[in-house]
Amino acid sequence: MRIGIIGAGQLGQMLGFAAGKLGFEVRFVDPSSKPPASVCGKVIQSPFDDPVALIALAETCDVITYEFENVPVAALQHIDGLAPIYPPAEALSFSQDRLTEKQLLESLGIPLPAFHAINSRADLDIAARELGLPMVIKTRRLGYDGKGQFVVKNNDDFDIAWESLGDKPLIAEQWVAFDYEISCIGVRSVSGEIAIYPISRNVHVDGILRTSRSPLAEERLSETASGYVHQLLDHLNYVGVLALELFVINDQLLANEFAPRVHNSGHWTIEGSATSQFENHLRAILDMPLGSTASRGHAGMVNLIGDIPDAIRTQTPGVLHDYGKSPRPGRKLGHFTVIADTAAECDELVDKIDKSVNQST
Ligand SMILES: Nc1ncnc2c1ncn2[C@@H]1O[C@H](COP(=O)(O)OP(=O)(O)O)[C@@H](O)[C@H]1O
Ligand SMILES: [Mg+2]
Repeated sequence: MRIGIIGAGQLGQMLGFAAGKLGFEVRFVDPSSKPPASVCGKVIQSPFDDPVALIALAETCDVITYEFENVPVAALQHIDGLAPIYPPAEALSFSQDRLTEKQLLESLGIPLPAFHAINSRADLDIAARELGLPMVIKTRRLGYDGKGQFVVKNNDDFDIAWESLGDKPLIAEQWVAFDYEISCIGVRSVSGEIAIYPISRNVHVDGILRTSRSPLAEERLSETASGYVHQLLDHLNYVGVLALELFVINDQLLANEFAPRVHNSGHWTIEGSATSQFENHLRAILDMPLGSTASRGHAGMVNLIGDIPDAIRTQTPGVLHDYGKSPRPGRKLGHFTVIADTAAECDELVDKIDKSVNQST
């Protein structure tokens, strides 16, 4: 069995390791010359939308998946019928456009922050009247790690926001003074079996995920979030792992966005769950029975951004995942996971490690 993966970054690498554990081969398409996943299998070096490379991948693999959500849907049409592609293109297309993504969440009755499509400078004023300030302007497409976003705090910011982002289709969103952020990761197999991981609490700094911890004591939030993920998985006839990000405010949940792929806020599942999100993604797309999503203790994950300090290489307890990327400010180079017996112990370890590794970012 060979799995074709579009994208060979760290998510592709961790999928590749999980595939190896299950006894499967992997093959990738990626434009970079030595991407992180090249340690797991052959990489066809090509742009993600190159039909020749995608056809070569589909013709030599039993199933196709992707590690990032900006694979052009049109490019996938070139390989339609050559091999099954999971998650389905419809889910990919919803998640690629923040407007259609939010409209989908709204249509399913999942609560989310108020939003307004922005097609002209005048729409900014209309949105501000409707949503109030601050509000956040986001590009509808291609944003990640907080990129393509502008927080409009007062009237002076309107022109600056328009100048920096106005050449692209935009969305304005109510600013949520959240208490904290969570995510809920679910997986659905070809046969429709569903498994959901315990929610994790996530901290972002400058729009980039810094830490995740799971499980949380908040049973009701966990159940509600799982229900939303369940709804999304079923509605989209989804196959694979899906991650839903949510804000928690006054014990209520507001959905932020979903990703049709394995997710950074689920990296703790490698050590912290009976079955990792990577293994379960593969099980789902190969229509194997899903593995248990039960937690093994309290897991905490710290992203290593911009630099992997030497001290972390000898840190115990915990496990270092070094993606093998060259250092660059703001770049996710690896992550470090700890497992503890109690939430308090986990918190202490995560805070200590986060302070020691991310002082300068
Ligand atoms: N409406 C909002 N209110 C408050 N914070 C927000 C809002 N939208 C985004 N953020 C902050 O920015 C982070 C990144 O935004 P997000 O919409 O998830 O985009 P990305 O695709 O870059 O992850 C969020 O995790 C959150 O911390
Ligand atoms: Mg996000």
